Amino acid sequence: MIGFLRRLFARPAPVLTDAQPRDASAIAALHAASFRRGWSEQEVEGLLIERSVVAQRALTGRSFAGFIMSRLAADEAEILSVAVARSSQGRGLARQLLNLHLRRLAGLGVRTVFLEVDEHNAPAIKLYGRAGFREVSRRANYYPAPGAKSGAKPAAALVLRRDIG
Ligand SMILES: CC(C)(COP(=O)(O)OP(=O)(O)OC[C@H]1O[C@@H](n2cnc3c(N)ncnc32)[C@H](O)[C@@H]1OP(=O)(O)O)[C@@H](O)C(=O)NCCC(=O)NCCS
Repeated sequence: MIGFLRRLFARPAPVLTDAQPRDASAIAALHAASFRRGWSEQEVEGLLIERSVVAQRALTGRSFAGFIMSRLAADEAEILSVAVARSSQGRGLARQLLNLHLRRLAGLGVRTVFLEVDEHNAPAIKLYGRAGFREVSRRANYYPAPGAKSGAKPAAALVLRRDIG
């Protein structure tokens, strides 16, 4: 009986695959829910059809649970964005997406991966730190403080790097 109930209420395991242009609207919606400056569906579709862009997505059952996207230039890549739906956060999904993504990038000949992250984004900094990314520089006053009237200082962007392959 307990086993039956557990199966009934269990979440399906996430399925991670390469993202396709038809994922543009789900990615744009998740991006808009995750960041102050959203991407339009057209912008996302434009990225997904670029040959230099690599992206994976995660589905949990029928729900779009997360994505990660990079742009390649020679043997370097920049992670443009990663996001996990709020209801799927804190379960290791971003780690799974990042691991798969780094394997794909290495398979494409990428040797160095860069990204920028808000100095106050604790979950993202933990995620990247665990995956072996290290800070190489810092851009001060890069992200505007939330609410122009708050008086808070704009946050710095940390530039992180990891060598792969
Ligand atoms: C950053 C983000 C992708 C992490 O997704 P996630 O699936 O919840 O991450 P994981 O479950 O794989 O956890 C990654 C690490 O963050 C930690 N973490 C998760 N949620 C956290 C929180 N709210 N506060 C602090 N740490 C947190 C986890 O403990 C884990 O660290 P650990 O391995 O040391 O335990 C997600 O929070 C998100 O989509 N944020 C909004 C978009 C964003 O900021 N993207 C990054 C831009 S650079």
